[in-house]
Amino acid sequence: ARNLQLAAVGFAIYGLTQIFVTKLDMFPARWISADAFLAATGVPVQAIRAVMAVVVLVGMIRATQVVEAERQKQLLAAQQARLEAMEQIQVELTKREALRRELLRHTVQAQEDERARIARELHDETAQILSAFTLDLATLQNVLPDHPDVRLLLDRLQTNSRQMSQGLYHLVHDLRPSQLDDLGLVPTLNYLFERDFFPKGLNVFLEVQGEARRVDPILETVFFRVAQEAVTNIARHAKTKKAQIQLVYAPERITLKVSDNGVGFDPSETFNPPRGWGLAGMRERVEAVGGQMRIKSAPGEGTTIEAIVPTPEQLALPDEEMQA
Ligand SMILES: Nc1ncnc2c1ncn2[C@@H]1O[C@H](COP(=O)(O)OP(=O)(O)OP(=O)(O)O)[C@@H](O)[C@H]1O
Ligand SMILES: [Mg+2]
Repeated sequence: ARNLQLAAVGFAIYGLTQIFVTKLDMFPARWISADAFLAATGVPVQAIRAVMAVVVLVGMIRATQVVEAERQKQLLAAQQARLEAMEQIQVELTKREALRRELLRHTVQAQEDERARIARELHDETAQILSAFTLDLATLQNVLPDHPDVRLLLDRLQTNSRQMSQGLYHLVHDLRPSQLDDLGLVPTLNYLFERDFFPKGLNVFLEVQGEARRVDPILETVFFRVAQEAVTNIARHAKTKKAQIQLVYAPERITLKVSDNGVGFDPSETFNPPRGWGLAGMRERVEAVGGQMRIKSAPGEGTTIEAIVPTPEQLALPDEEMQA
């Protein structure tokens, strides 16, 4: 504003100097003229004009500079505010992502615990009752009179009880394969492929590299579930008859690789429920035990799912990790 005032005053003086014109024989130029000014002040009025013009110019330029600087300052402040808002959003996003992961982890863990509980209950209680029932049936067969109708009925009851037993066994096994604890990963996987996938027309080839060894049951469960889900996906989506599984035992890690030459998909796609729980659950399980999961796939180019899990001698349980 001071610069603008300066320019205004300069311009006013410049204007006033215009009164002093060349001497002419008419009013008021007769008295007020450039010559008179020169005579009175000893300075030519043109010189004053030139100086004033410079003053006006300087004032104007300085004023524009001030306006420009002000504008820059405002722009910078606006940018700063935007940056801060974005940082805020980033923080919020990170928090939400952490919460989402935590929830998923809990869900996966809760599912595993619940399965184990139901399997235990079915095995320890329902299966026991069923055994007792079958025994009683046998006893009944011995004590009842040998009548064709009774024999038919008893036979049917026995067949039913056998089928129930088998169904129950399958159910318990699906919930938590007991071989996993008794025999380990490789036999359990082979059994799974043989029983669940071969009859559906999917051939799964399991190749083991390195020396298969027993590891923490938690890790074995993770590998089992990942392989199970990956092969289920192949059977369901890949439109192929073959799947290849590689289990690589290295001293400090185990790698599970499940590949197919099927239709493939775009892994960057996000799937909405009910689709997409499988892949997310796999990743969650693997990362919960400190591992890494990679998905390689493209439409028409098959799919490879890789889970790499470190096997430290003393594996920290996820819960202990959380408290640390
Ligand atoms: N081996 C594969 N070949 C082709 N497409 C696959 C394969 N694996 C996964 N997909 C694609 O990725 C999607 C997501 O798989 P994901 O296992 O997460 O979910 P889903 O199998 O559809 O359902 P669910 O949650 O019951 O597992 C599938 O719907 C399928 O389109
Ligand atoms: Mg799936």
